[in-house]
Amino acid sequence: MSTKSVIVALDIGTTKVCTLIAQKVSKKLEILGVGSHPSNGLKKGSVVNIEKTVESIRSSIEEAKLMAGIEHLESATIGIAGNHIYCFNSSGVVPVKNKEISQSDVDRVIEAAKAVIIPSDREILHVIPQEFKVDNTSGIKNPVGMCGSRLEVYVHIVTGKTPLIHNLIKCVEQAGLKANSVILQPIASSRSVLTQEEKELGVVLIDIGGGTTDIAVWKDGSLVHSQIIPLGGSHFTNDLAVALKIPHNEAEKIKLTHGTVMGQPGETFLTIQGLSGTRPREVALNQVAEVLGARAEELFNVIQDLMLEKNLHNQNTGGYVLTGGGALIRSLPEMAEYVLEKPVKLGYPQAFGGMTTAMQHPKFSTVLGLLQESRHVTEASTREEKIQDESDMFDKLGKSLKNVFKEIF
Ligand SMILES: Nc1ncnc2c1ncn2[C@@H]1O[C@H](COP(=O)(O)OP(=O)(O)OP(=O)(O)O)[C@@H](O)[C@H]1O
Ligand SMILES: [Mg+2]
Repeated sequence: MSTKSVIVALDIGTTKVCTLIAQKVSKKLEILGVGSHPSNGLKKGSVVNIEKTVESIRSSIEEAKLMAGIEHLESATIGIAGNHIYCFNSSGVVPVKNKEISQSDVDRVIEAAKAVIIPSDREILHVIPQEFKVDNTSGIKNPVGMCGSRLEVYVHIVTGKTPLIHNLIKCVEQAGLKANSVILQPIASSRSVLTQEEKELGVVLIDIGGGTTDIAVWKDGSLVHSQIIPLGGSHFTNDLAVALKIPHNEAEKIKLTHGTVMGQPGETFLTIQGLSGTRPREVALNQVAEVLGARAEELFNVIQDLMLEKNLHNQNTGGYVLTGGGALIRSLPEMAEYVLEKPVKLGYPQAFGGMTTAMQHPKFSTVLGLLQESRHVTEASTREEKIQDESDMFDKLGKSLKNVFKEIF
C-alpha cells in the first residue's frame, strides 16, 4: 500500500473558508485540490457560532478532497486573525556557553525573550526573531557558529486570547482534521504576496478581508509589527446598504460590479433594487463612491495613525501592498496613496505549481501563504488506494476464508 505525502492549508475567514491540498514534489509545491465555501460562523475574524463554522469548514474540506481525489486527511495548517490578537516586541540576553554560539544558545536566548508577563487568558502564538546581537555586533540573522560571549535577540511576539484560539482549533477538529500549526494570517499573506527584496527594503502589507484588515510591517527582512483592525469589506457593504436603503445582498452586488472609492466627473446612474415592496430606483455612481470613499478614508486614517504612533512611518521605504478580497474596490490604491503618503500597489499571490489563474486572486493570498509556511507533511490515502486497500482486504479475507475451509475439510 502506498501513501501520499500532502500538505493541507485552511483559511477560516469571515466571508469564506478555503482549503488547499498540495503535494511536495522534489521540494516544490503542487496544488492537488481547492475547496472554498461561504463562511457563516465568524464575526470580525473570531468564531461566534461553532456549529456553522464547522459546517463551512467541512464543506470546504470535502470539496478540496473531491478535487484532489483524496479520501483521508490527517491535519492542516490554519490561519488566525480577529481583534483579540495582540503583538509586541521583546528582547532577551544570555551568556554564550562555549565561546562558539550553538543552536542551544539560540534556543535559550529566545526562551529568555519569551519570559514576559502576559495575561492569564492569553497565549503566545509566535515568537519571531528579528535580529541577533553578538557582543557589540548587531543585525545578525543567524548567529550559530559565530564567536562571542554575549548573545542578545530581538523578537516579535504574537499572542491571542486562549478561549478564542481553542474555539478555532475545536471547529477544525470537529470538522475532522487536527490543527498542526496556527499561523497569524498577515504573516501567511506576506509570504505569498511580498518578495524578500520588499521585506528587506521595508514594506507594509494590508490584507483587507471581509471582517478584518490585517497589517504586517516588514523591515530589514524581519516582521517588526503586526496588527488586526476590526474593519473589513463587509463594513463597506453595510455602509452602502444603510446609505442607499437597499438589502445587504444588493449592496454587495453593487460594490462588486460598480464599487469605487473615487467619484468621476459627469454623472452615471445605476438602477438599484430597493427593499422588498419598493420599486427599482436610480442612484448616482458618485453617491456610491462617496459612501465607499468615506469608509476607505477612515480605514487608511486608522492605519496612518498606527504607523505614526509606532514610529514606523519613516521606516517604510517600499510603501504599502494591498491584498485580500476587499482590496479590489476600484481606485482603492489611489485613495490609500493619498492618505498614507507613500506608494501603494495591489498585491497578488505569486504563482506556483498547480495554481490556476482563478487562484491568483487577492482573496486567496492567506491560504496560499499558509500552504507555503506549512512545514507539516502528513500521509493521505487516495481514493484509488482506498479501493486498492479494500480489494487487498477482500483478498486477505478470501485467503483466510480459504484457510478456514481447508482446515474444516
Ligand atoms: N471584486 C471585488 N471588488 C470589491 N470587493 C470585493 C471583490 N471581491 C471580493 N470583495 C470583498 O472582499 C471581502 C472578502 O475578502 P476575503 O475573501 O479576503 O475575506 P475573508 O478572508 O473571508 O475575511 P477575513 O480575512 O476578514 O476573515 C468581501 O467583503 C467582498 O465583498
Ligand atoms: Mg482573510
